[in-house]
Amino acid sequence: MKKQRVGILFGLIFVAQLTVRCNGGVTSTYRRRLAEPVDMPVDADVFQVPPGYNAPQQVHITQGDYDGSAVIISWVTADEPGSNTVLYGTSNTKLDMSAEGNVTQYHYYNYTSGYIHHCTLEQLAFDTMYYYTVGVGGTNRTFYFKTPPLPNSDASYTFGLIGDFGQTYDSNSTLTHYKANPDAATLLFLGDFSYADGYPYHDNIRWDTWGRFIESSVAYQPWIWTVGNHEIDFAPELVFQKHKTN
Ligand SMILES: [Fe+2]
Repeated sequence: MKKQRVGILFGLIFVAQLTVRCNGGVTSTYRRRLAEPVDMPVDADVFQVPPGYNAPQQVHITQGDYDGSAVIISWVTADEPGSNTVLYGTSNTKLDMSAEGNVTQYHYYNYTSGYIHHCTLEQLAFDTMYYYTVGVGGTNRTFYFKTPPLPNSDASYTFGLIGDFGQTYDSNSTLTHYKANPDAATLLFLGDFSYADGYPYHDNIRWDTWGRFIESSVAYQPWIWTVGNHEIDFAPELVFQKHKTN
């Protein structure tokens, strides 16, 4: 009996400790509408191309290493490759560091992508605000992000979770809801991004609209990606047609 009581006591202390340590807040009452979702049109305001010649668009960041001291900056330019440089620093008036990335492009059936840039910023300080500029030497745009805390068992860091996202009116309300949470520091994306594969010829223009849509969050905090079944993009009929017509 005594042993049991000691066990219960330790159990209670453990639960009390958990209550003190875990400050995850409460589950949101937000629920996505149950009705059939409808995609936003290509000319929706949230898909707008930023103004200016060759302006960087679809700006997004993700973790660049396993402990949080590197960040990969990615963006697309539409008119010409432009610069691969990222200027960055801990003050928005003094971007005194720079890193050089690379550029790539891809073709998918009758679609040709813009110029896709990736640049890794390394040896960043933990728990620090950084400002960064892309489009150096042309139309440039500046964003910011905060690095995660030094990894340790007591570090506090709040993750968001989104999956099966798409680009419907409901996706828009979900993203607005997510961005309204000031605690969310990074997002684990659970797969099924743009649903471009639902369009004729898997219209990759719908990847571009999606990239512009999510920029208002993912340019400022890392989204960490897992692919879903809609990213498999298996379409042998397009490859066959392409070979036949060429
Ligand atoms: Fe899914």
